Amino acid sequence: MSNHPFDLIVFGATSFVGQILCDYLFGRHGADGDLKWAMAGRSKTKLESVRASLGEGASGIELITADAADEHALREMCGRSRVIISTVGPYALHGSELVKVCVETGTDYVDLTGETQWILRMLQAHEAQTGMSGARIIHCCGFDSVPSDLGVYHHQKVAMERFGEPATQIRMQVARMKGAASGGTVASIVNIAKEMAKNPALRKTLANPYALVPGGKARARQTNITTPTRDPETGAWLGPFVMAGINTRIVHRSNALSGYDYGVDFLYDESMRMGKGLKGGLAATALTGGLGAFMAGAVLPPTRWLMENTFLPKPGEGPSPEQQRDGMYDLRFHGTTASGDKLTTRVTGDRDPGYGSTAKILGEAGACLAQDISRTDVGGGFWTPATALGDPLLERLERYAGLTFEDCD
Ligand SMILES: NC(=O)c1ccc[n+]([C@@H]2O[C@H](COP(=O)([O-])OP(=O)(O)OC[C@H]3O[C@@H](n4cnc5c(N)ncnc54)[C@H](OP(=O)(O)O)[C@@H]3O)[C@@H](O)[C@H]2O)c1
Repeated sequence: MSNHPFDLIVFGATSFVGQILCDYLFGRHGADGDLKWAMAGRSKTKLESVRASLGEGASGIELITADAADEHALREMCGRSRVIISTVGPYALHGSELVKVCVETGTDYVDLTGETQWILRMLQAHEAQTGMSGARIIHCCGFDSVPSDLGVYHHQKVAMERFGEPATQIRMQVARMKGAASGGTVASIVNIAKEMAKNPALRKTLANPYALVPGGKARARQTNITTPTRDPETGAWLGPFVMAGINTRIVHRSNALSGYDYGVDFLYDESMRMGKGLKGGLAATALTGGLGAFMAGAVLPPTRWLMENTFLPKPGEGPSPEQQRDGMYDLRFHGTTASGDKLTTRVTGDRDPGYGSTAKILGEAGACLAQDISRTDVGGGFWTPATALGDPLLERLERYAGLTFEDCD
């Protein structure tokens, strides 16, 4: 039995996504239900106002004040909970101290980062120590990269049951997606662009599909879809998927941490399905151009300033509750085994991917780590969602969080 008063604390409860998460946790567990949880952030006044917005009965939720740079306050917070969920981003700017403290105090941790360069820094600084302290650190527990990581995990399980071997290649295509970005996500992407401008070697690191694989060794010649590409199977046009840069790295890390359950030469890519014929080709070209222009604009200080001060959302801003409710996603994982057997897995979510769905995924990931995953089964380390949380998280997501995982053929 743990002697911590809380199962989990939401650090960053005042963030755009943190507020949606607190609303979800309050709806699902109340203020004093089966899951003991508290809200934390740097401003007591803001925390009080978020708690008040949750409605009747929320006044029992404890508020904890801590700044992301205040090691003493972070240690006190970690001493009170088994798991910390952090939404304080950009993580490369505000997240390092908390990961250090979690590792040192043996506190479990989940977050929403998609910042590969920062994850690498955390691995290099703290991975060795997690074995001793017992802290389980799991990055990327939102839309990036849970549907991708668990989608592949589920696909490979079914392939093993049905064919007796895993798929040697899986191509994930986003069939449909409806949502919008928040200021926090834009700030994280802009910060990556700034870091790349300062450190050109980072571009090469980020381009490596095996960047997060222990040892960083390339196993097979993995390609990324970065330009309009014709799907050889269906003839449809594919364009680059903005989250592929982090999702593919997490999936390859899961494969490595599992002892290469998917095979040492496993290939995995992600793209957006844009349709067939001239219309599909034009859409894939426009998407490629738009993403390229965004990143180029974010790298150069004058255009970055213009973008940040005109059309991009500011920190704290994001899609409206209606946009979150009207959002959705539909992902298809097309896999082929070494013997040529084929399988397609479909993963869907019922809210906008970045916030409505991400908040539910993150809440279930934190609760799953606190309530379902013993330290005997999963010891200290920097895990991925699939390798640490696997089936228990998949079941929670289907039961509570509006996701489905199913085979199409
Ligand atoms: N993986 C995914 O699918 C996914 C989806 C959505 C978001 N994200 C990521 O999640 C993060 C949050 O996004 P968001 O849009 O919700 O961000 P946001 O609204 O801009 O919120 C940022 C949060 O950080 C807090 N903060 C900043 N500096 C702090 C400090 N020194 N000490 C304590 N707290 C501090 C802010 O506190 P105040 O309120 O007091 O200012 C606020 O709660 C971003 O990194 C974003 O990229 C990932």
